[in-house]
Amino acid sequence: MAENSALRDGREFYFTSQDFDRVRKLIYAHAGISLSDSKQELVYSRLSRRLRATGIRTFSEYLALLESDNAAEWEAFTNSLTTNLTSFFREPHHFPVLADHLRSINNKHAITLWCSAASTGEEPYTMAMTVIDALGRDAAKVSILATDLDTKVLETAKEGVYPLERVSKLDPELIKRFFFRGTGPQSGFVRVRPELRDMITFRQINLLHSDWQIRTPLDVIFCRNVMIYFDKQTQLDILKKFVPLLSSDGLLFAGHSESFHQADEYFKLRGKTIYELSPKYKLKRKNEESR
Ligand SMILES: C[S@@+](CC[C@H](N)C(=O)[O-])C[C@H]1O[C@@H](n2cnc3c(N)ncnc32)[C@H](O)[C@@H]1O
Repeated sequence: MAENSALRDGREFYFTSQDFDRVRKLIYAHAGISLSDSKQELVYSRLSRRLRATGIRTFSEYLALLESDNAAEWEAFTNSLTTNLTSFFREPHHFPVLADHLRSINNKHAITLWCSAASTGEEPYTMAMTVIDALGRDAAKVSILATDLDTKVLETAKEGVYPLERVSKLDPELIKRFFFRGTGPQSGFVRVRPELRDMITFRQINLLHSDWQIRTPLDVIFCRNVMIYFDKQTQLDILKKFVPLLSSDGLLFAGHSESFHQADEYFKLRGKTIYELSPKYKLKRKNEESR
């Protein structure tokens, strides 16, 4: 019955509500992403491309392929279902706070920042511009780890090449300072300058996994506009894992619609969508640091 209705809708592939439920379960278990009922059409359109690419004719056959643990298809499936919207200087109020924080901890120790949902790279490159602006020569002592689950966006991020429109709203002086303008076949594109690129290490990390293998302590964690895809329990599990990684005076930056009341025991709001460790965990981290 459901399959007939899929055909009646003039769709290219059978896509039943049972197929949608299977997709939901798989992506939730693998990436923590919770898909609401309203995402059925989006899932159909994104995964149809995978059916075409693999030559598979039905969703149930495609899902069986995934369930047989086909690693390459798992990567493509995951990349298809992530939402990667981002921009340079998105939520700009965060960057002056980051700059002040960097100045306040400069010369105390080597500085490490983590951008945990880096997408196509605009966010970590904005962090790097802020570092250079705030610290000048001392920026050489800073390292940024930029990670994402999606391997395709990480390739774009590593490349650091963007269509001109992506930077069109930035101050022309800033563009001149931090980007090369493409010429010839590269005209219409900009490339980030090596001083930004060299500050950043790009790596795949699934926030859902238990062992991220990150060198600590971290001075700053950017975790913006990714928690909205997770349910509250998954958010809390991730936030708890941030605690032992952050330095006692570290900051956590969240996205504009993300609030972490469920983690009040661990994090305290310090400014608009900016968190620090709660007094209890700040003290705990301080004691650990002095050992
Ligand atoms: C909407 S983008 C946000 C990009 C950037 N942080 C910003 O605010 O502009 C969300 C990113 O989270 C990534 N993501 C989704 N689930 C993830 C997971 N389980 N682990 C790590 N990254 C994940 C997606 O691949 C996507 O690039």
